[in-house]
Amino acid sequence: MSVKDRISELRNKLREEVEKITDSSLATNFRNKYLSKKSELSSISSELASLPPDERKESGALLNEVRNEVEELYNAKLDEITLKELNERLKAEAIDFSVPGRDSTVGALNPFYIVENEIIDIFTKMGYEVVEGPEVETEDNNFTLLNIPSDHPARDMQDTFFLREDGLLLRTQTSSMQVRTMAEKAGAPFKIICPGKTYRRDDDDATHSHQFAQVEGLLVDHDISMAHLKGTLELFLKSMFGEKREIRMTPSYFPFTEPSVEVAVSCFNCNGKGCSMCKGTGYIEVLGAGMVHPHVLEMNGYDPKEYSGFAFGIGIERIAMLRYGIDDIRRLYTNDVRFLHQFTKQVK
Ligand code: DAH
Repeated sequence: MSVKDRISELRNKLREEVEKITDSSLATNFRNKYLSKKSELSSISSELASLPPDERKESGALLNEVRNEVEELYNAKLDEITLKELNERLKAEAIDFSVPGRDSTVGALNPFYIVENEIIDIFTKMGYEVVEGPEVETEDNNFTLLNIPSDHPARDMQDTFFLREDGLLLRTQTSSMQVRTMAEKAGAPFKIICPGKTYRRDDDDATHSHQFAQVEGLLVDHDISMAHLKGTLELFLKSMFGEKREIRMTPSYFPFTEPSVEVAVSCFNCNGKGCSMCKGTGYIEVLGAGMVHPHVLEMNGYDPKEYSGFAFGIGIERIAMLRYGIDDIRRLYTNDVRFLHQFTKQVK
């Protein structure tokens, strides 16, 4: 068979083959098989050189014509199926905005955080700065520089998780931040609160947890008196438990304050008449406080002749439990959403 005849035959075959392309992978196969360097068109083209000149010219022209025609047919086919496939994809991936949404469960803020945020809010409105510090502390910051030397019985009252023999421990109280803050403020007046986690070797039960949280407060300035402390805590407790509450301070003992007080708020359950919640006394103890001990000021770089101050320690869980009538501290840590939803309005 002459080369020209072979080309004509190939043309017919390719015209048929192009029609069989129905998707992009068949298109790729076609291109690799019939339009590449290894195709029949190419191998015929390389044979042309050995033909006599006249025949070479005619066959070469025909071969070009066929190649152009097949490429055109192929390109047109490719455009057609690309468009077809795009339309199919758009249809398959179309979003139907009228389909009803899936129901989602919305969480709720733990009452612990509701109370913590509120405490922070109340004190920042009074101009307090919020500071935070490490839960792993030195014995000096947690005890010694707070007037609790190593033979002091208060160390036993706060069963401590010691981490190392040289005195690194998990802080038993946020009072350690008093030491850090006085070092940082280096003799200048300030007022801070420090919310944070604290740890004690307690057996967990309804009212005890080996990990709990406190908010420490410390104000140091000139001419600070017990009246400032009382006014501050009264404002705090009324914001927290209601305008009608009255506060009561009774003498207490903390090594780092002198005098020290236990602060109670008139019972919000019975309005001070006496009920099971306040154990008949009309008052509920809520926090400890006092005037910063002169020795503590002195050890931490403040001259007690020039400076005075007050401090307080609030247990966040205790406030949350009282405010919301929660009977077991462990409920604050388990994050059961059925429990959590009782304290915030559900956003839905
Ligand atoms: N650190 C005390 C505790 O954990 C709480 C406390 C009481 C802090 C009186 C104070 C304070 O700053 O003045 O029991």
